[in-house]
Amino acid sequence: MKRIAVMVSGGGTNLQALIDAYKAGEIKNGEIVLVIASNPEAYALERAKQNGIEGLVISKKSFSSPEEFDNALINALHAKEIDLIVLAGYLSILSKKVTEEFGNRIINIHPALIPSFCGKGCYGLHVHEKVLASGVKVTGATVHFVNEIPDGGAIILQKAVEVKEDDTPETLQKRVMEEAEWKLLPRATSLFCQDRISINGMKTHIVEKAED
Ligand code: GRF
Repeated sequence: MKRIAVMVSGGGTNLQALIDAYKAGEIKNGEIVLVIASNPEAYALERAKQNGIEGLVISKKSFSSPEEFDNALINALHAKEIDLIVLAGYLSILSKKVTEEFGNRIINIHPALIPSFCGKGCYGLHVHEKVLASGVKVTGATVHFVNEIPDGGAIILQKAVEVKEDDTPETLQKRVMEEAEWKLLPRATSLFCQDRISINGMKTHIVEKAED
């Protein structure tokens, strides 16, 4: 059974999707044992508490240096013997020290089809504002491995979502969450916990199973 830590910063709807999938038996060979928030106000912490999952706040502001933050985060993850870290609406960029410590055991959900609309400054509603301003007809979400480059790791799963003419950033974000994020993240998490994702450079291979 792989031990999963979910890192959050906000409302935690992606965390909730993971919890709901776990309860439905859809995250095979994995259990969520820890939620780490970047700030104490994150409602995601309340979702963890409601579901009996330990919550921690590890905020960069609480440490006198980035190195101290890195060490506190790494120690907290090792203390719980974490096998997989899932970034679910986590807004801080993890340092190279952290991403190398857990090389290819960190995954992230990004609300666009990487390599479009990603990288520095592309998070939350900003992503959908850029999508609408660009005039594209299709957007979506991506789950990818995390390295020290924002949204830079190998892609695991993607799902396309239609952009509608009357969309606002808010309506588009909601559709991308409902139709893509909340489906892809639990699936990618389950595939990882079943050791069904292999990586070759920037390419991943997923072992398909009939019973999926
Ligand atoms: C969402 O836009 C998600 O795509 C991004 O963070 C935002 C908040 O997610 N990763 P959540 O509701 O906190 O899971």
